[in-house]
Amino acid sequence: MFPQRRMRRLRRTAALRRLVAETHLRVDDLVAPLFVREGIEEPHPIASLPGIVQHTRESLRKEVRELVELGIPAVILFGVPAHKDARGSGAWDPDGIVQVALRDLRDDVGNSIVLMADLCLDEYTDHGHCGVLTPDGHVDNDATLDLYAQAGLAQAAAGADVVAPSGMMDGQVAAIRDALDEDGYESVSILAYAAKYASGLYGPFRDAVDVTIVGGGDRRGYQQDYRNSREALEEIRLDIAEGADMVMVKPALAYLDVLTRARAEVDVPLAAYHVSGEYSMVKAAAANGWIDGDAVALEHLIAIKRAGADFILTYFAREFAESFAG
Ligand code: PBG
Repeated sequence: MFPQRRMRRLRRTAALRRLVAETHLRVDDLVAPLFVREGIEEPHPIASLPGIVQHTRESLRKEVRELVELGIPAVILFGVPAHKDARGSGAWDPDGIVQVALRDLRDDVGNSIVLMADLCLDEYTDHGHCGVLTPDGHVDNDATLDLYAQAGLAQAAAGADVVAPSGMMDGQVAAIRDALDEDGYESVSILAYAAKYASGLYGPFRDAVDVTIVGGGDRRGYQQDYRNSREALEEIRLDIAEGADMVMVKPALAYLDVLTRARAEVDVPLAAYHVSGEYSMVKAAAANGWIDGDAVALEHLIAIKRAGADFILTYFAREFAESFAG
């Protein structure tokens, strides 16, 4: 018997496949994560993130100007301070590295690209946790909220369009929103890392920001347990109720089910963070000649969009935009 319906008819030529493609990845979908390090003279390569560097203030400016030319709509900044302390003061100091970098970029590129700032303490604390610690070594949720509010204000004053709290403290979005509104920054928006899992895939990022969690600890006391997905929806609903303008699921590929559920549930813009480990695995396998890195990168990014993301934070942003420009 002949098959009833011939599915292969529409796969016959590239043009037919293009015509019926359900998902498209555009440069407009991509946010480039960038690292800027205080007190260095030259950009430093990050061994576990091939092609990505810790920028100097100057090299960051050049990079962002080039990303504007390539059509990337947004960058998200992470700072590596020269000195870390128990309270992560570099995160809210007006002269902290990200604040200084935001002012540089605001002068250079104006509104031609969205300037996002990751809002957390872990890059700035000497113990590596995302919040301040109680005397017995636990992360103190409510004491941390005050510092997040200060960090948000410092980033807004320095010119951030979007602040992106990533520390998974309860109430962080409300605390930051209140502080911004009280100080006249009503127009600064919040991208909440709403459903952020305690993942093994952040390893290369921690090299990039020189973070080691004290005593070999982990973040399972505040980031989500990857056995749960209903809980992610609850996190997302809470963040929206607290005033998040956009929400994020992180990491991406192991959480496509969460992305799809979130997409069905909410109508605010939904982001996915294709994190450092996801990038590095592709790069490492490609460097060994085991996979075609470009092909797999595209397959992964498209899968994230197909699952429901509106935009993707990815270390592939520049490469992807260049492949279009070139
Ligand atoms: C916390 C933060 C992390 C990442 C983004 N923001 C690390 C963590 O939670 O340990 C990870 C991003 C990546 O792996 O690419 N400030």
